[in-house]
Order: sequence, then structure tokens, then C-alpha cells
Amino acid sequence: MARARADLRRQAGGADGIPRALRVAGLTKEFPSDAGTIVALDGVDLTIAPGEFVSVLGPSGCGKSTMMTIMAGLDAPTGGEVTIGDRPVTGPLLEAGVMFQRDLLLDWRSCEDNVLLQFQMRGLATAPHRERARELLEMVGMSRFARRFPRELSGGMRQRVAICRALVHRPPLLFMDEPFGALDALTRESLNAELGGLAARAGTSVLFVTHGIDEAAFLADRVVVMSPRPGRIVGEVRIELPRPRPAEVREDPEFVAYTGRLRRMLAHERRDGEPAAAGSRAAGSRAAGTGEAASDV
Ligand SMILES: Nc1ncnc2c1ncn2[C@@H]1O[C@H](COP(=O)(O)OP(=O)(O)OP(=O)(O)O)[C@@H](O)[C@H]1O
Ligand SMILES: [Mg+2]
Repeated sequence: MARARADLRRQAGGADGIPRALRVAGLTKEFPSDAGTIVALDGVDLTIAPGEFVSVLGPSGCGKSTMMTIMAGLDAPTGGEVTIGDRPVTGPLLEAGVMFQRDLLLDWRSCEDNVLLQFQMRGLATAPHRERARELLEMVGMSRFARRFPRELSGGMRQRVAICRALVHRPPLLFMDEPFGALDALTRESLNAELGGLAARAGTSVLFVTHGIDEAAFLADRVVVMSPRPGRIVGEVRIELPRPRPAEVREDPEFVAYTGRLRRMLAHERRDGEPAAAGSRAAGSRAAGTGEAASDV
């Protein structure tokens, strides 16, 4: 495992193996369509510092998945640049773990073998990592299903397997696109806590796309807010709450103030630039800790 991790770190670009800042500057992305060109992203600037956890919030269709895919080196931008350290990103970032919005599990492989795919894809033996795969499946409550096939699972169970697959090689850089969307509120909260702890302990840089305002704030060092399409980053909030963050931090007035601020920024964007009307859901206007669904965007 140590060797695999060292290999991944070396690919991160620095001679010392330390992961570098991931940066996009002036990023634009256009898609051709029958109805004309769709401008998905227009001038996105964003830097993720090594070890930083950045959550991304924005309305549906604003380009979050597109931005993540480009930052992971899985699609090319139309304009602008993506760099990791001083190296341009021109292909898939091998040092990254990616969890897509759709789980993309292979139906003909067992859950455990889906998780171990990370190593096979990189030409590494899987046997030394089986134990780690099982530990992760246990962590997400899926150990009983390790030898079962994805078609036998619910949507949330599939998502949990995909989370394990994104984490199994201990990537220094992690991209997650609404990873907990199909989970019940309590499982989501407990995986939030696990992910926050894992990322902080391992010094992982994370780009985390979500519609959950509470989740975004709970996990992040910084939450960025995007405009409706064409997506741009229109604001950011630094979450200066100490770590580790217990689940109850969600009831803390400081936390509620952060989520209120984020909610107002999003409401402002949705109204196409008009200020949010009085009486919109603002800081403290709802009972704290009422569950994620109440604060999804
Ligand atoms: N391959 C593609 N071809 C054409 N248009 C695309 C393609 N991928 C994305 N788009 C368009 O780009 C825009 C941004 O899509 P994207 O999936 O990035 O949004 P999103 O912010 O992730 O939305 P959601 O929150 O619903 O997941 C949308 O208008 C979408 O229709
Ligand atoms: Mg998306």
C-alpha cells in the first residue's frame, strides 16, 4: 500500500511527492448542440490548496459536474487552463480519486472487485489491497454485500460502494460529485463525519460538489457558490470552525450563520441578481439540525 501511495504521490508532480495546488484560470466550456452552442462555464477561476477541502454549491445545470470533470483531467476545456503545481493538466489525473454523480459501477464485478478496480486500472496487483477494500466497505456498512453484484443493490448502497472505490487508493486529491445524494439523512451525516476525518487526517485536497448547504459547510474549509449557467464563481465563504467537527456543530449559532449566508447567496443568484426578498429562509430562520433535505438547493 505504501508503495502504491508513493507512486500516486510521485505522479502529483512535485519532486518531493507533495501534492500541489490545483488551479483553474479563465476556464470556459462550450458544448455544441442542435439548438446552438451551450456555454456551460464562463471564466471560472478557482484554486484548491494542498490539503484544502472546497465544497461547491450552485443551481442545477450551472456547470458543477462539467467543472469537476475538467479539473480531474477527464475532459478538455474550451478555454482557460488547468494546472497542478506548475504542470498543465492534459489528461486524467492518476493521483486523483473521482466519484461521479452517477455511480458508474461495473455490473459484472462484485462490489469488492469494483472497489479494487482502482488498482487494476493502474496496472497494480489487487491482492495486497483486498483487506483495505473490505475495511472501507465495512466503514460504509456494506461488508455483507462485498461479494454481491451492483445490480442487487439500492441506489444508496451503490453510492456507498462508489465512495469506497474513490477512497481505496488513499488519493491525495479527491473529486466527489454529489456523493451522498441518494443516502438517508443519518447515513449521510455519519459518512460526512467519516469523510471529514479521513480527509483531514490524510491531508487530502477535496473538491466536493453538493446541493446540501449544511453538508457543504460541515465539510469544507471553503464553500464556493456558482451562478446559474453559464457557471461562474460568484462568492465564497471560509468556514472557520475548528476540526474535528462533531455532528452537533450543525446546531451551533456560528454554523447556522454560515449556512444562512450561503443560502442567501444562492437565493440571490436564483433571482438573477435581485436581492433575496425579506422572509426568504435566512440564518436562524429554521430550527437547526432539522436534516439535510431542508437545506438542499
Ligand atoms: N456532454 C454534454 N453535451 C452537451 N451539453 C452538456 C454536456 N454536459 C453538460 N452539458 C450542459 O452543460 C450544462 C452544465 O451541466 P452540468 O452537468 O455541469 O451541471 P451541474 O451543475 O452539474 O448540474 P446538476 O446540479 O443538475 O448536476 C447543462 O446545461 C448541461 O445541459
Ligand atoms: Mg452535476
